[in-house]
Amino acid sequence: AGNRTFTMIKPDAVKAGNIGNILQMITDGGFEIKAMKYTQLTEEQAKEFYAVHSERPFYGELVEFMTSGPIVAAILEKDNAVADFRSLIGATNPAEADEGTIRKKYASSVGENAVHGSDSDENAKIEGDFHFSADEVVA
Ligand code: CMP
Repeated sequence: AGNRTFTMIKPDAVKAGNIGNILQMITDGGFEIKAMKYTQLTEEQAKEFYAVHSERPFYGELVEFMTSGPIVAAILEKDNAVADFRSLIGATNPAEADEGTIRKKYASSVGENAVHGSDSDENAKIEGDFHFSADEVVA
């Protein structure tokens, strides 16, 4: 029950061997996994997913990083999912992230920041639909 958010465990965290640790923190945080896949984004997919940032100076770097290795994409459900997940992951810049957050523990920089979390219910739906078809989401 509740509402949904979308996350990716990013290439830095996958390479560092932290998929299991991060999924444990997510489930310990009360989130239910409704869909999940291990995949590597193509350049086209990363550009489209991050199109909102296409005018930012870091867009090229962001696309390059997000395609640099496999990721874990997931749809998560919990009451107040979007805001609670952003609390669990911490600030975009790990230097500003609170103790005990996923980014404080596992992120190394503002670019290589271990996890993505949707910033609104609307974007959670768009991002979840981008990565998953209806038959890949459990009831
Ligand atoms: P995410 O929440 O996945 O969505 C946008 C991403 O852009 C963000 O995480 C960061 O990883 C990245 N980002 C934001 N600011 C910067 C920056 N100044 N330099 C590099 N990457 C950035």
